[in-house]
Amino acid sequence: MLESGWLTMGEVSAKFEDEFKAYTGAKHAFAVSNATVALHMACLALGIGPGDEVIVPSLTFVATANAVRYTGADPVFADITSENDLTLSLESIRQALSPRTKALMVMHYAGYACDMPAILQWAAEQGLPVIEDAAHAVGSFLNDKHLGTWGAAGCFSFFSNKNLSTGEGGMVVTDDDALAEQFKLLRSHGMTSLTWDRHQGHAWSYDVVTTGYNYRIDELRSALGRVQLDKLDANNARRSALTARYRELLSELCPALGLPFEGHPGISAHHIMPVLLPRGTERIRFMERLKEQGIQTSIHYPPVHTFSAYREGAIGAEHLPLTDDVAAREVTLPLYPTMTDDQAQLVALAVARALGD
Ligand SMILES: Cc1ncc(COP(=O)(O)O)c(C=O)c1O
Repeated sequence: MLESGWLTMGEVSAKFEDEFKAYTGAKHAFAVSNATVALHMACLALGIGPGDEVIVPSLTFVATANAVRYTGADPVFADITSENDLTLSLESIRQALSPRTKALMVMHYAGYACDMPAILQWAAEQGLPVIEDAAHAVGSFLNDKHLGTWGAAGCFSFFSNKNLSTGEGGMVVTDDDALAEQFKLLRSHGMTSLTWDRHQGHAWSYDVVTTGYNYRIDELRSALGRVQLDKLDANNARRSALTARYRELLSELCPALGLPFEGHPGISAHHIMPVLLPRGTERIRFMERLKEQGIQTSIHYPPVHTFSAYREGAIGAEHLPLTDDVAAREVTLPLYPTMTDDQAQLVALAVARALGD
């Protein structure tokens, strides 16, 4: 690839997109610099702008809400479904609806599906498009349909900790030809032809038809992405087996620990392994105890409505009791495809010890 001398978006990126389309079943796919810009483009292509509201989860990475703010619109926070289902609740979405609502943005937490059939049906009744933040969900399916291909647009992340990683990178997919046209323009300065097209003799010059961005991926990352896509199913199968092992061990060793997504429908990519500490457990102390044993943990997520940049005037913040409760108790345990069963057992035993203290 390097020997070809072509480093910016070209043939390898086009192949990566084709393979991603074949894998997900999406009609159109555009490789981009990261998922945050994919979300931004999805908002822009749907015409979201100042004065509009977009309903989003608060239990997500801040990028979900930031993408809405980039357009001048306001994110409106909705609650999760339950302690077992950490994805957006349709009932809470309904409560968040206002005359200003322009779209919904759902996030498939840890790769587990939001209730897309019900959410899409309700959204269609309201005439609202649904954007899927599928950053966790490459290789996740519901009713045999890949997550990210249910709504108007789906946004994937290839950040270094993701199931398919290119260091930084992302993909936006859609079945809608008009949105696809927008994505092509927005990704590259609103230009009607790209350097690669001109190199191939498809065009001599170009027009600029909208104020676009440089949200392109490059050939190096696309090459990584193609190899990673080949490995995805095997890696996700390993994540799935490890998750099952964790569940088995933890439910036996720590019955008071919450293990969300028990019996959740669909096939998850098992991006992360969230657990919920019993109420009253000192979370930081628990995490320190694991760290002392060489076990890294993290939190998914500090809810967006609690951040300094969001706290003041966060719309919907008073209606998030489940998010507030779960976010204060959540800890994410190590989970990666090269992890061994013995390592999972070691972590489970360490969790039981840390909870016992
Ligand atoms: C739920 C969610 N949305 C969006 C993003 C943003 O992805 P990226 O880092 O590729 O911009 C992430 C990545 O961490 C994420 O976890």
